[in-house]
Amino acid sequence: MAISKDIFSIQGRVAVITGGGGLMGRRHAEAVLEAGGIPVLLDVSSEALRDVAVVLHETYKEATIVSYRCDITDQAQVDAIRKEVMSDLRRIDILINNAANNPKIEIAGGLDFSRLENFPLETWQRDINVGLTGALICTRIFADAMKETGGGVIVNIASDLAMIAPDQRIYRREGLADERQPVKPVSYSVIKAGLIGLTRYSATYYVNDNIRCNALVPGGIYAGQDEGFVRRLTNLIPMGRMACPDEYKGAIIFLVSDASSYMTGSCLVVDGGRTCW
Ligand SMILES: NC(=O)c1ccc[n+]([C@@H]2O[C@H](COP(=O)([O-])OP(=O)(O)OC[C@H]3O[C@@H](n4cnc5c(N)ncnc54)[C@H](O)[C@@H]3O)[C@@H](O)[C@H]2O)c1
Repeated sequence: MAISKDIFSIQGRVAVITGGGGLMGRRHAEAVLEAGGIPVLLDVSSEALRDVAVVLHETYKEATIVSYRCDITDQAQVDAIRKEVMSDLRRIDILINNAANNPKIEIAGGLDFSRLENFPLETWQRDINVGLTGALICTRIFADAMKETGGGVIVNIASDLAMIAPDQRIYRREGLADERQPVKPVSYSVIKAGLIGLTRYSATYYVNDNIRCNALVPGGIYAGQDEGFVRRLTNLIPMGRMACPDEYKGAIIFLVSDASSYMTGSCLVVDGGRTCW
């Protein structure tokens, strides 16, 4: 069988992207547009959505790009969007569960609040609500829409920290006692590992509905982080650098298109080799 590049095309397919106003959400939307699809961006921040829409329209002038302010932890809001998209665009083929509360270590409510023994349960609950409950809500609501048109694809955005423990040494600050050192919050590891569980569960649950579900496991993206942090992190990465924001687009196009038609319940690790070292 000849391999046609059409297997990477998602011409006319509708792709819902949660956290569409964020750093990666915009890149997922670009990947969808490059492959001929229609991105539907959901984000709790109207401002972020507006900014991303402006950037996307500059490059993809004629393209259909849809965005909705939506809190994915609110089932009624997500369901209302499903109805609106099905009425306007008549289909939902792809869901990218990408939204998360990304804890900035430095503003986690005072450095030592990130530590396990101090980590506020309200923060834990808020993080779980977005990262796991939100993904569950979107999965079941948009999978229902996919069933109406014969199937679809779900991609859960996990992290290298779904596979390995955070190396807390890279977050260290000079001049702080050990018990006051900031750490990557426990909620992040639990949510990302949980998303791998949701991926396998959804893959088998929806297999007879022709809905595939896989996880993308990305490493850290360079976005102007502190020099010392970047040096310590890149020492843990065989390729010796963090990812550029555009470097997950190829993986996204592969996962959402027919190029990955025999793949479900799997994790695609794109991390510069970090988890193999
Ligand atoms: N940036 C990285 O280095 C990196 C590395 C590995 C994995 N990831 C994962 O990739 C995904 C995207 O990361 P990012 O760097 O673009 O983060 P980001 O913070 O830039 O974007 C996340 C977006 O989710 C939105 N959001 C938060 N709560 C929401 C809610 N309740 N409803 C709807 N939207 C909500 C935020 O407003 C934000 O725009 C996350 O799941 C993250 O954990 C990121």
